[in-house]
Amino acid sequence: MNVTILYGGKSSEHEVSLVSAASVARNIDTKKHNINLIGIAKNGTWYLQSENELKRIKSDSSSALTITEDNNQIVCAVPGGGTNGGLKTLSGKIISCDIVFPVLHGMYGEDGTIQGLFEMTEIPYCGCSVMASSLSMDKEKTKIIWEKYALPVVPYLTLKKYKYISENDKTKTIQKIEKTFKYPVFVKPACEGSSVGASKACNTAELKKALDEAFIWDEKVLVEVCINAREVECAVTGNNTISVYTPGEIVPTHTFYDYDAKYTDPNGAKLEIPAQITNEQKEKILSIAEKAFKKLDCSGFSRIDFFIDKDTDEIYLNEINTIPGFTSISMFPKMCEASGLKYPQLIEKILSLGIERFNERRQLKTSLKK
Ligand SMILES: Nc1ncnc2c1ncn2[C@@H]1O[C@H](COP(=O)(O)OP(=O)(O)O)[C@@H](O)[C@H]1O
Ligand SMILES: [Mg+2]
Repeated sequence: MNVTILYGGKSSEHEVSLVSAASVARNIDTKKHNINLIGIAKNGTWYLQSENELKRIKSDSSSALTITEDNNQIVCAVPGGGTNGGLKTLSGKIISCDIVFPVLHGMYGEDGTIQGLFEMTEIPYCGCSVMASSLSMDKEKTKIIWEKYALPVVPYLTLKKYKYISENDKTKTIQKIEKTFKYPVFVKPACEGSSVGASKACNTAELKKALDEAFIWDEKVLVEVCINAREVECAVTGNNTISVYTPGEIVPTHTFYDYDAKYTDPNGAKLEIPAQITNEQKEKILSIAEKAFKKLDCSGFSRIDFFIDKDTDEIYLNEINTIPGFTSISMFPKMCEASGLKYPQLIEKILSLGIERFNERRQLKTSLKK
């Protein structure tokens, strides 16, 4: 197949994508597939990359992808264009593309927007649909679906920015939170990732600061009970038949798994795969992960993140990531590997699931005419 890897992007997780996508590109079987790299610059412009970029990262196993912004290689998407005409350079050269693997994290990558573009161009893509992607990006909507199916979510309140403008609004909001929860509480933007804008608050002053910070990033903010948590994650793949993999645990060395622990401090967190949990806990987590994936109508792959309360052993769903970190040391591929699915086979599986879903949908009737 002609596989297009899309990477970079407009989100706060642009740099993470450069590393994730390099790993994906290195691990695709090039005897079976021809790879095209399309880098999305921070301003959103798409650039076709030269074959040399692929050669470069293949010969240097520690290097991230870069994006060369050559105006002759700007890419556009053509609605209805399909696999042989849906992607072109501005000069008109067709980029044959049997499937796109968007290795893009966060906004404009994981949130359904790019998935919508590929629906319009009629090109198969890896991962979740438009609806499942955008639902999963919104932590409040995700919880509402999970709650509907009696899956365990962390208790929360939803706040909107337009009701948090005047000092009077702010005081009322804080009173409401303090009436609902005991300190500490956890505050986070509804649709961000990488712990951006998230913080723990132990008193009124910290709560106000946490809310002010979170509202910089999103118009909708969640306040949650702060769990004294073990953080356990579970990889899931599949469309109609679902596979779940050995869970892993993140043990952050910071107050919580914040941005620095994730990306800047090399000792910010320890990854334990498999997670040292009881068999009973593992079975429960696998069963919840499968349901959590299905109830959001996910397809392809996702990583589902849990908390186990250290004080009560209670298990909670925290969130879902429909395009989780994909570097060779990221949790998602590592957890699959721990269950016997090696990185190259994992990618092969994700590609074939994308094709399978596209073909299934193509058989649906789209016109009333016979
Ligand atoms: N309710 C909570 N109680 C305790 N810690 C939390 C809570 N919610 C989030 N955290 C911490 O913040 C981190 C980031 O929050 P998360 O909901 O996973 O958002 P994202 O990873 O999308 O930024 C988590 O990994 C965890 O360390
Ligand atoms: Mg998270």
